[in-house]
Amino acid sequence: MSDAKTSLTKDPAPAAETKPVLSVDNLRMYFPVKTSGIIRRTVGHVQAVDGVSFEVGAATSLGLVGESGCGKSTTGRMVTRLYKPTGGEIKFEGRDIATLNARALMPLRREIQMIFQDPSTSLNPRHTVGTIIGAPLRIHKIVPRDKVLPRVQELLEVVGLNPEHYNRYPHEFSGGQRQRIGIARALTLNPKLLVADEPVSALDVSIQAQVINLLQDIQKEFGVSFLFIAHDLAVVRHFCPEIAVMYLGKIVEIGDRDSIYEAPQHPYTQALLSAVPDVKQAQVGGRRERIRLEGDVPSPINPPSGCRFRTRCPIAQDICARVEPPLLQIGKKHKVACHFPGVIGKHPEKPVTARLLGVDDEGRPDPGGSPADIGNAPGYADTWFDLENNSMGRA
Ligand SMILES: Nc1ncnc2c1ncn2[C@@H]1O[C@H](COP(=O)(O)OP(=O)(O)OP(=O)(O)O)[C@@H](O)[C@H]1O
Ligand code: SF4
Ligand SMILES: [Mg+2]
Repeated sequence: MSDAKTSLTKDPAPAAETKPVLSVDNLRMYFPVKTSGIIRRTVGHVQAVDGVSFEVGAATSLGLVGESGCGKSTTGRMVTRLYKPTGGEIKFEGRDIATLNARALMPLRREIQMIFQDPSTSLNPRHTVGTIIGAPLRIHKIVPRDKVLPRVQELLEVVGLNPEHYNRYPHEFSGGQRQRIGIARALTLNPKLLVADEPVSALDVSIQAQVINLLQDIQKEFGVSFLFIAHDLAVVRHFCPEIAVMYLGKIVEIGDRDSIYEAPQHPYTQALLSAVPDVKQAQVGGRRERIRLEGDVPSPINPPSGCRFRTRCPIAQDICARVEPPLLQIGKKHKVACHFPGVIGKHPEKPVTARLLGVDDEGRPDPGGSPADIGNAPGYADTWFDLENNSMGRA
């Protein structure tokens, strides 16, 4: 049996170290499920987010995608500390903010802001746009009172709205314009990180592109980093150089744009992508074959053993029910959590992870096995598992 550690590939030219703005490590959020009545007992937990790790670099964007209920918003709400995580770390500029109390969080509220999905419910209908955008300036006493209005007008201009419309009410604007107001409000305090939770899902398709272009311009001008949450892979494709795919509270695949869109290795990513119109395929003729997933997403209160995707996976085997696949780095900027990673039609017959985990091909403990240390650390290492040579390994 060859040593698993020999099948790690080294990046020939490691990139210069740049510190991430956000580093999330093994983040968890379990919501208690309680009985009704006077004495409310906890009878279980919704494992909404269960051990998620990722990084967001300076002035760049990470897309977080997955079906409804997979834990995207909960992740975003923990990062902005609207929720206190059950466990794990949220390092913002190197400092763990996961357990900070409300007082210690105050200065951070300026640095991390959120853009919400539905602009009509996130803006107070009784306040003018000037009051809405100016509120953070007044609360945090950023500028003198007489400088609030000029700053509001400046922000309206930045998001492409008429600065003279500061005394109008939200209902006097269209859906796309209201989202621009939400973006202006999020920018008021010059944040370093914006968590955008489905910022364009409620908008017409024609307006979606305009708002995404605006976010792109803002990123270029102000160097803001984004955690961009979306249902589908088409929305994040052009905005996010890196994408994480979530399923039932876990990241199943994460990587740079080329890895995720051109060579996805996880059956779930492949299914999600098959639902996205493929421009390249259309150019050469024909359509990408649609992969239909059977069954419903299982309950996060009692998720399946082993791989959480196994109840819907077209290529699942015995090991998938016994052992959870680790999020294994398989490329310079590519990680996948599957025992049988491969492009469509080329998934290996045997689990590539068995030796690394010290189990046999069915997932039973292997007495002769020596498990490798596969951490769930955020970011990427400069060594990774080489899928092409996994049986023999390569220095
Ligand atoms: N406050 C809460 N209490 C209990 N369960 C919750 C709470 N918030 C979310 N959940 C559950 O946690 C899981 C993840 O929810 P979340 O809103 O993060 O999903 P999502 O990926 O954002 O979905 P969507 O695409 O529909 O917005 C779901 O099963 C949801 O029902
Ligand atoms: S680990 Fe098994 S069940 Fe999970 S995605 Fe891979 S093949 Fe499917
Ligand atoms: Mg959501």
